[in-house]
Amino acid sequence: MKRVKTGIEGMDEILQGGIPERNVVLLSGGPGTGKSIFSQQFIYNGLTMDEPGVYVTLEEHPLQVLKNMEAFGWDVSEFEKEGKFAIVDAFTGGIGSYAEKEEYVVKDPEDIRELIDVLRKAVNDVKAKRVVIDSVTTLYLTKPVAARNVVFQLKKVLAGLGCTSIFVSQVSVDDRGFGGPGVEHGVDGIIRLDLDEINGELKRSLIVWKMRGTAHSMKRHFFEITDKGIVVNKE
Ligand SMILES: Nc1ncnc2c1ncn2[C@@H]1O[C@H](COP(=O)(O)OP(=O)(O)O)[C@@H](O)[C@H]1O
Ligand SMILES: [Mg+2]
Repeated sequence: MKRVKTGIEGMDEILQGGIPERNVVLLSGGPGTGKSIFSQQFIYNGLTMDEPGVYVTLEEHPLQVLKNMEAFGWDVSEFEKEGKFAIVDAFTGGIGSYAEKEEYVVKDPEDIRELIDVLRKAVNDVKAKRVVIDSVTTLYLTKPVAARNVVFQLKKVLAGLGCTSIFVSQVSVDDRGFGGPGVEHGVDGIIRLDLDEINGELKRSLIVWKMRGTAHSMKRHFFEITDKGIVVNKE
């Protein structure tokens, strides 16, 4: 079985070599737990391993995403020029001068068919092996009953195209779940990021709750966000 290396220090050991190819992994956590950084690091590391990627942004302006990545030294501009990276803008709604210059814009993210059409085009154009959707929660905020269907449709398309994907799932601070039964059961893997106050200090940790196709660490692992991104303590 092929595995896709996250390239995140400590993480591939926890996953016994990486995420099984074609898996859809729900990356779940509260606000500020590092979901976007983890996802961006996964995409950038892929680019350096010659695995093209697509990043779908629903929560932040595409320029903000690029700026955040640059802050960690993850400059994707060359890869974008070479046609190995694409950002899908499902944030601006196609409004504004920036959107006019963009190649991949989703005007109505709640229209799953439009999203899938744009995503499919981006994936085919760059021959993406890795895809991030940040976040899938935004796709069904106003209609939670649609969650299972949305996740299933996306999974079908992306697995069919041979991609290994991270679906970011937002949960509230005190929620122990991963984003609701619809999404939790539909995905191949679940990685949960946490932020807990311990003796007056916030500590970051993660746990792999599920990963189809492989054994994995069953422990909670502390991690840090450094100026080079996420570093996981594999002990
Ligand atoms: N250069 C950095 N060094 C250390 N921590 C950082 C750095 N940049 C951001 N962070 C931390 O990352 C958090 C944001 O992570 P992010 O991935 O955007 O969270 P979310 O889970 O909401 O997507 C910030 O609240 C901050 O604590
Ligand atoms: Mg985020």
